[in-house]
Amino acid sequence: MRCLFTASLAVAGIAGTLAHRVGDGPVRHRKSLGFGPVHKHAYYRSSPYQVVTTSFTRRSEDSDPFEVARLFIEDILANQLSDSSSYKIRKDSYTDKTTGITHVYVRQIINGLEVSDGDMNINIKDGLVLSYGNSFFTGPAPSGFVPQSLDEDIRHPHQEFCNGLTDEIELHYNSFAEAQNEQVVMGDAAPLAKVDRALRHLTHVHHSNCRFRQLATEMAGLTQETDLDPRSALLQFMVTATPHDHVVNDVLANFEHYLSKMVQYMQGNHFAPTDEPSYLMVDNVPDAVAPVKAKLAYYQVPGKGDSVHLSLVWKFEVEMQDNWYEAAVSAMAPHRIVSVVDWASDAPVPIPEPETTATYNVFAFGVNDPEEGKRSIQKENFDALASPVGWHSLPYANDPSFRGVKVATKEFYRNTTTTWGNNVFAQENWEGQNAYITNYRPDAGSGKAFDYVYKPKETDKSDALEEAQKHINATVAQLFYTSNMMHDLYYRYGFDEVAGNFQQYNFGRGGEGNDAVIANAQDGSGYNNANFMTPPDGQNGRMRMYLWNTALPYRDGDFEAGIVIHELSHGLSTRITGGPLNSGCLPFGESGGMGEGWGDFLATTIRSTANYSDYAMGSWAANRPQGIRNYPYSLNDTINPSTYKTLDKPGYFGVHAIGEVWAEMLWVVSQGLIQKHGFTDTLFPPQPLADGTIPTGDFYRPAAGKKPLVPKHGNSLSVQLVINAMKLQPCRPGFFEARDAIILADQQLTGGENFCTLWKGFSSKGLGPDADVILRTPWGGGVRTDDFEVPLACDTA
Ligand SMILES: *[C@@H]1O[C@H](CO)[C@@H](O)[C@H](O)[C@H]1NC(C)=O
Ligand SMILES: *[C@@H]1O[C@H](CO)[C@@H](O)[C@H](O)[C@H]1NC(C)=O
Ligand SMILES: *[C@@H]1O[C@H](CO)[C@@H](O)[C@H](O)[C@H]1NC(C)=O
Ligand SMILES: *[C@@H]1O[C@H](CO)[C@@H](O)[C@H](O)[C@H]1NC(C)=O
Repeated sequence: MRCLFTASLAVAGIAGTLAHRVGDGPVRHRKSLGFGPVHKHAYYRSSPYQVVTTSFTRRSEDSDPFEVARLFIEDILANQLSDSSSYKIRKDSYTDKTTGITHVYVRQIINGLEVSDGDMNINIKDGLVLSYGNSFFTGPAPSGFVPQSLDEDIRHPHQEFCNGLTDEIELHYNSFAEAQNEQVVMGDAAPLAKVDRALRHLTHVHHSNCRFRQLATEMAGLTQETDLDPRSALLQFMVTATPHDHVVNDVLANFEHYLSKMVQYMQGNHFAPTDEPSYLMVDNVPDAVAPVKAKLAYYQVPGKGDSVHLSLVWKFEVEMQDNWYEAAVSAMAPHRIVSVVDWASDAPVPIPEPETTATYNVFAFGVNDPEEGKRSIQKENFDALASPVGWHSLPYANDPSFRGVKVATKEFYRNTTTTWGNNVFAQENWEGQNAYITNYRPDAGSGKAFDYVYKPKETDKSDALEEAQKHINATVAQLFYTSNMMHDLYYRYGFDEVAGNFQQYNFGRGGEGNDAVIANAQDGSGYNNANFMTPPDGQNGRMRMYLWNTALPYRDGDFEAGIVIHELSHGLSTRITGGPLNSGCLPFGESGGMGEGWGDFLATTIRSTANYSDYAMGSWAANRPQGIRNYPYSLNDTINPSTYKTLDKPGYFGVHAIGEVWAEMLWVVSQGLIQKHGFTDTLFPPQPLADGTIPTGDFYRPAAGKKPLVPKHGNSLSVQLVINAMKLQPCRPGFFEARDAIILADQQLTGGENFCTLWKGFSSKGLGPDADVILRTPWGGGVRTDDFEVPLACDTA
């Protein structure tokens, strides 16, 4: 018997419930699953107003932060867990250049398997643990399970056969490494591809015969109910996840047939030392656009009362046309879906100076939409720190259009005259499919003047799509320009390579490369919305901008900067909350809602000027002055009455409604900072000098020794605190944790001089120190209490 878990569906994009593409050909129904348990035992502790309850004491200032983290973790584990629990420090941990804080990400391991929601994030500076979050499983480890991971060698009856194979693979591995060097030097990918194929084949044989089957047999002998073949669990997940009724019906009617068509093989690096986990890959999965990654793991599942137990699950990474899921499905029959996260939501080489910088006829940065200003010619004003080779250059080795192609040049960088560069690949996507490399994009020739007509005519509805498509050159140029400006802006506030930003090449500065943003203009998969899919660091983010059929001529979302910024901010918040390699930290409920809220807040802050004004989201595209949210962002409680308790209302289960409340709180908080510190007309910090130092200009306060630079004005400081706090907060934060992280970020950056300003802002919206929530369920809900008081220390004024 199959037991399928049904979940409530929500569109993840900029808008919640606006119309889908209608009248212009087929429109796909995008469906998004997102749910999972919220753990009562998870907690976040941030000094100074919460006591860190451990015996752990400060280490000397010059201690290695990772050593401090290790001692700290062991201190916690000693008090909490049985011997079978261990941990690993994830490789995406890093020390932040802008704050000097080291962010350490830790994953719990039990019986050799990851506890996929057992996370710690520890923030360390000068030998001191500033704050940490902990959702480690604290109960007894399950027994009756082979305590071996897939990465460990297991004896096999045909030991000699396997040993021989290992030698052969090692041989191939060496020539692989050689070929890899050759490719970098010569730009020739052919030998690499050949060795790679041979290696993959042997590895496949090795794993399926010598390692995985053996492990599977041993495990099956011990736990009879465990289904060690992931295919059945995966197929049942696909039935729930697919938006297509005919796929559901066909799979259910021919279940065994689909099962037998799905093939499995192992993937992973085992012959060079690496921390990479190995995955089982499953191909021929209905409705998936790429082979699905699968691995066994534990997941924490709530039981009766406050109890929590570990469930053995298959963790799948499923890339579909419109979704990119990370799902945990019980490995025990029946295959219950335990959790689903949709990743979609709405110097080694000398660096050359670009010969000519490009120009673009666009709505300049800060002009939110066509109603707010006119187009003008803007320079490729790239930030020398964020985009050292400009926006139209990238290494041949990192250019997906040269994958598997022999390049007859010894040049390292390729210069383009199209909307194709190291940070952003921008193009049309009228087909609404996943291909992008050969899609149309404007080529401005050697002068790189992207100057195209934008004068859409009013037509009948039947011709409106064609009319919009006539302006594809201007649209793609605009999307490319806005997305690169945002790349550079966020970079300067700390969304750099180690923090997991989106770049094909990382200039040897750390983090994973090959993950520029794929930016699709006029994407054919929908209307009246936009969305962004954020897989972990090292895989391309994908942004899809839609047309809006809310007026004639159609309005093109690519021209409304607020929508583009909202979407790009999903990439920012998803990558830096919980670490670059964990894309599952803002999935649903309050954390998913804040994922929407940060985008609205940042988009609104970027468009705002020295003269205060209220702003609504998406007004131009939606052709509605009040925009697409319930209320405009405003300091006036009559115009925007949202408080923390608003989340209790019916209609506030969806992430966009929750996000709107969070964005309003941040808006009010930031206005307090602007009142205190003033306003800067540009959010871009000064360019670095030739020796690499950053001048303070009028942007930063005078530098104080080795201390991080502090933005001088209220609006730039708000952006800095919000981004710093995302790095400090735990995985799956609620409003309280996110608020506390902002207060801690200020403590770290300014010594806490805005403590009362920040509290005053939050408290005015009900998020004071005694605000509370009870009866929250995994699906949301709960009963909240507003607190409008400020902490005692701030009561004097
Ligand atoms: C790309 O431009 C840089 C800077 O002008 C130049 O040094 C380099 O040779 C160019 N690369 C190619 C392949 O033309
Ligand atoms: C886009 O620009 C190119 C020149 O770069 C031009 O040949 C083409 O006709 C333009 N496309 C449209 C739809 O105007
Ligand atoms: C703000 O308002 C003043 C007075 O109305 C005006 O002179 C100024 O140009 C405005 N500034 C901006 C940035 O809109
Ligand atoms: C707030 O907005 C309401 C409704 O527009 C208006 O009547 C009231 O005067 C505003 N209050 C302030 C302080 O501006």
